[in-house]
Formats: sequence, C-alpha cells, structure tokens
Amino acid sequence: MIRFARPVLFLAALLPLAWLVFAVLTGRASANPAEDILLTTGIWSLRFLLASLAITPVRRITGWHRLIQYRRMLGLFAFFYAVLHVLSYIAFDRFFVLGEIWADVVKRPFITAGMTAFVLMIPLAVTSTRGWIQRLGRRWQLLHRLVYVSAVAGVLHFVWKVKVVIGEPVFYAVILAVLLGFRVVWRLRRSGAR
Ligand code: HEM
Repeated sequence: MIRFARPVLFLAALLPLAWLVFAVLTGRASANPAEDILLTTGIWSLRFLLASLAITPVRRITGWHRLIQYRRMLGLFAFFYAVLHVLSYIAFDRFFVLGEIWADVVKRPFITAGMTAFVLMIPLAVTSTRGWIQRLGRRWQLLHRLVYVSAVAGVLHFVWKVKVVIGEPVFYAVILAVLLGFRVVWRLRRSGAR
C-alpha cells in the first residue's frame, strides 16, 4: 500500500488542474472561466503550502516519521499551482502589460502580499533537490524557514483580498496559526526539557 502512496498522491495533486481543464473545455466552468482558473490555482497553492507545513506536527504527534518523504512533493505542488496562479493573473487580469503588474504590486497591499509569498517560494523550490540539500548543509534548514514567511504572506493575501475578516480566509488563518503555534510550543518544551 505504502509503495503506491507516492504515485497516488502525485495523481491526486493533479486532480484540481485536471478538473479545471475539463470544466473549461466542456463549458462546465462558470460564466468567467479566467476567474475560475485564477481562484482555483490560488486556493490550491495555499492548501498545498499548508499541507506541507502540517507534515512535521503530524509526524511528531503520531510518530509516523515516513510522512517526511511527502513534504517535498506537497511543497513543490504549492509552487506549481502558484506558478499557474501568477501566470493566469498576468494573462487574464493584466493582459501581459508588465508596467501594470508592477503598479499593482506597489499599490495594492493584497497583491504585494501575494508577490511576497510567491517570490519566497522560488528559492525553496530551486533548492529542494538532494544536491542542494547536501551542498547547503545546515544553511538549507535556515533557508527553508522562509516557508513560514511565505505561508503568512499567502494567508494575508487571501484575508486582504476579501477585506472583511470572515469566512474561508479566516479558516486558513486559523490553520496556519495552529501549525505555527505547534512549532513554538514544541521548541519551548524542548528547551525547557534541556
Ligand atoms: C505574484 C503573486 C500573486 C498575485 C499577483 C496574485 C493575484 C491574485 C488575484 C488577482 C486574485 C483574485 C482576486 C479576486 O478576484 O478577488 C488572487 C486570489 C487568491 N490568491 Fe493570489 N496572487 C499571487 C500569489 C499567490 C500565492 C503565492 C498564493 C498562495 C500561497 C495565492 C493564493 C491566493 C488565494 C487563496 C486567492 C483567493 C482564492 C479564492 O478566493 O478562492 N496567491 N490572487
């Protein structure tokens, strides 16, 4: 069963994209398919980012250490959907006008937060290979702490987008707070034990 977990997870992670392509091609999307693509890729990027952050707490609570092998895949899928999300923003929202994109990043805090989340994901994705992990040694772990900043920026991007602090964005903010809180408590308990 475990042998198939990796390919099953890989295929499952592609389902949101497959559904999107299917819905757009068969006319099952909403009246605004470009918006469907933008919103679906954004939410799945955030979901995968939070799922990758959940691996360590779940491992520590359950003792199921094998889960670590899925963390990189989840992180890379977060980046994959973020790339699609940003490309769909550039194409459908800004029609490839680079000056407008920059003006948007500077003027709208919600876009600044999204851009921050995205830019921080780039070095994480690039250095996710075994070669980079060996080359960077301890610095790899330091660098990969950026994932917390990226997740905070991603959740802020979502919360800011809706302006009123209710509903789904709050749900994701609470999940992130629990995941980060777990790490803080874990560290404090470990240093207390020492
Ligand atoms: C350059 C970077 C980014 C830009 C320019 C950008 C832009 C946008 C835009 C224009 C929307 C739609 C707003 C609306 O129509 O109401 C949106 C929604 C969203 N974005 Fe981003 N985004 C960026 C990066 C990210 C990243 C890295 C994540 C995930 C970590 C993310 C997650 C989301 C989410 C969750 C939504 C809302 C989806 C929903 O309402 O269901 N975005 N983004």
